[in-house]
Amino acid sequence: MATSSKPTCTLLLLLTLSILALFTILPLHQHRHPAVSRSPQDPLFYQDTFLSSATNYTFSTYLRHLTLHSHLAGTPPSLQTALYVKTHFQNLNLATHQNDYAVLLSYPMHSSLTAHFGNGTVVSLPLSEPGVTQNGVVRPYHAYSPSGSAYGEVVFVNYGKEEDYRALREQGVKVKGCIAIVRRGGGMSRNDVVVKAAEKGVAAVLMYTEGDSFREGVERGTVMGGLGDPLSPGWAGVENGERLGVEEDQVIQRFPKIPSMPISAERAETILSSLEGARVPSQWLGTLKTKVQRVGPGPTMLNFTYQGEKKMATIHNIFAVIRGSEEPDRFVLLGNHRDAWTYGAVDPNSGTAALLDIARRFALLMRLGWNPRRTIILCSWDAEEFGMVGSAEWVEQNLLNLGSKAVAYLNVDCAVQGPGFFARATPQLDNLLIDVTKKVRDPDSEDATLHDKWRATNNGIKIQRLSGVDSDFAPFLQHAGVPSTDMYYGRDFTVYHTAFDSYNWMTNFGDPLFQRHVAVTGVWGLLALHLADDPILPFNYLCYAAELQEYTNILSNLLEGNVSLDPIIAAIQELTAAAKKVEEEAKRLREQETVGELLLLKRRILNDKLMFAEKGFLDSEGLEGKEWFKHLVYGPHSGSESKLAFFPGVVDHIFPSIRMNKIKQQAAIQHEIWRVARAIQRVAYTLKGELT
Ligand SMILES: *[C@@H]1O[C@H](CO)[C@@H](O)[C@H](O)[C@H]1NC(C)=O
Ligand SMILES: *[C@@H]1O[C@H](CO)[C@@H](O)[C@H](O)[C@H]1NC(C)=O
Ligand SMILES: *[C@@H]1O[C@H](CO)[C@@H](O)[C@H](O)[C@H]1NC(C)=O
Ligand SMILES: *[C@@H]1O[C@H](CO)[C@@H](O)[C@H](O)[C@H]1NC(C)=O
Repeated sequence: MATSSKPTCTLLLLLTLSILALFTILPLHQHRHPAVSRSPQDPLFYQDTFLSSATNYTFSTYLRHLTLHSHLAGTPPSLQTALYVKTHFQNLNLATHQNDYAVLLSYPMHSSLTAHFGNGTVVSLPLSEPGVTQNGVVRPYHAYSPSGSAYGEVVFVNYGKEEDYRALREQGVKVKGCIAIVRRGGGMSRNDVVVKAAEKGVAAVLMYTEGDSFREGVERGTVMGGLGDPLSPGWAGVENGERLGVEEDQVIQRFPKIPSMPISAERAETILSSLEGARVPSQWLGTLKTKVQRVGPGPTMLNFTYQGEKKMATIHNIFAVIRGSEEPDRFVLLGNHRDAWTYGAVDPNSGTAALLDIARRFALLMRLGWNPRRTIILCSWDAEEFGMVGSAEWVEQNLLNLGSKAVAYLNVDCAVQGPGFFARATPQLDNLLIDVTKKVRDPDSEDATLHDKWRATNNGIKIQRLSGVDSDFAPFLQHAGVPSTDMYYGRDFTVYHTAFDSYNWMTNFGDPLFQRHVAVTGVWGLLALHLADDPILPFNYLCYAAELQEYTNILSNLLEGNVSLDPIIAAIQELTAAAKKVEEEAKRLREQETVGELLLLKRRILNDKLMFAEKGFLDSEGLEGKEWFKHLVYGPHSGSESKLAFFPGVVDHIFPSIRMNKIKQQAAIQHEIWRVARAIQRVAYTLKGELT
């Protein structure tokens, strides 16, 4: 585990520096690509060529192929997509390899739902989507839901949050033994919802996703807690490796205790509009799009059955590696998952099409003489939909190499969902991200850059953060401490995880001309080119310090009593001072013109500080109750009522899920504040590069 007690960290730094200085210096004497013209020397030439070699046609071709069949992880059509990606990489002459794991996945066998209305009518409600021929499309289900049956009164519990149950309790509504209907949202993961419902004595959960226009789709999804293979928690699920038994406590606690199923908004409304009992609490009405007046319980009863199987499956990650010419031991990773609940045109194969096009264009640059300074790795993950399984296993297997050599992880999942550019990043990458959007044409306007458009819409440029556990950046950032980004066009698309996420939907709604694909890929590729080629890593830790200060200001409004934020404030000051020095050093080194061995070594020393700094936020003990998550700034909160996407350990104690004694609670918050402060200090020490 790449933790960071500071002496070890600095020692590691010095050790790597001395060994790896060799690599840096060697290539000087063996220019493999002597400059025949201006171009091979000039990174701008390759950036321009990368941008100008885009065509929307290739994206549509790739996407068409990837979405011909529904390709759920662990099934034969999914293997076909793996081979398609692998063959594509190989045909481009890229060094390609495949990495398989044997993991526990989950599939449905049987499900049924019957409504017994108050007027005596009994109807069997179809659970599949209308007009969908079930040829290879998996029926709607929740992966890892236990099998089971329930017969009980229906109760509507809104998002299924603690405050929702409180509102029901205040109206005298009992939920015990009921079948709860939940609308998706409110910052609750599927696992949060079912775990909370089970705590409240609910017998089974039905979830639906509200929609304005499209209400027939059913949102599949995983209800497993945590991420990665449940049988190999913390280590890689390699063939013939160590594995827990399916019945062991550690495994079972990852799965909910009561069965659940997704249903369509249409179906949910049929049931909900038949309820009597207490009125819907007024505080729910603001955002509610469903026709429902009363929350029950009853008189409608549901008879619900779900039978599924958990079984071992082989999953396949595919990689293409472009070896760095000068720093082959520094990795820039671009990742996207390939597995889909159904056809996956948006989720995730718009991103896969982008990855394939990056491969095509990087191969083209190589034919023109380009070799990145650092190694670039294109990663195509499997079984993300079950809980980031492919990427988490790989990160676990490669933890030390990633912790000491990965410069950044650039994720793209649902690349194109509709209009509008959105990005998430760790803050040291903000400036780079914003800069590259100045070079990319906006796909939805005549004559503007993506940057112009981004600035002009959605209240200006707002880069989100990566505390969610909703795509493959989570293991890289939250477990391994690798600086990360994630980006996409559009958000909240209506066909999410339904059988209607198809190529046709993309050409009709998501991106009819495939120009948004072109744009998002432009940003992705330029980020990679800078991170792989810039002599000094384009990381800015002053941005990070400013962001941390903002979080601290928000916290100070929430804290009361004897809790002090002074430790964090002092640590941020240290970080700011260190980051300033690093910026000055970077400026000096950029301005130095004659490239000699000493300059290369100095760059390497500086780059290593920049690369390692993020690791300071990791803590070997991890977050309380979810120890796999090691990052103290970005990580999941425990389904708390807060929307704060930072300092999860602190926030969990400010909004505890169970009531605590005030004094104990304040002590717990203060301890978490000290932990965060020490983490920020570690980052500052790493940037300074000195022992205390
Ligand atoms: C019984 O109630 C359900 C739900 O409100 C309704 O759809 C159905 O038409 C009713 N049946 C009769 C016979 O009234
Ligand atoms: C519920 O459905 C199952 C079959 O799906 C049936 O065997 C059972 O009798 C039903 N229970 C009630 C109370 O209707
Ligand atoms: C590519 O874009 C052009 C111009 O925007 C458009 O005419 C063409 O139909 C697009 N091709 C595809 C495959 O979408
Ligand atoms: C703060 O600490 C003091 C002494 O320990 C205690 O008397 C007081 O009640 C605390 N205040 C709050 C708001 O907890």
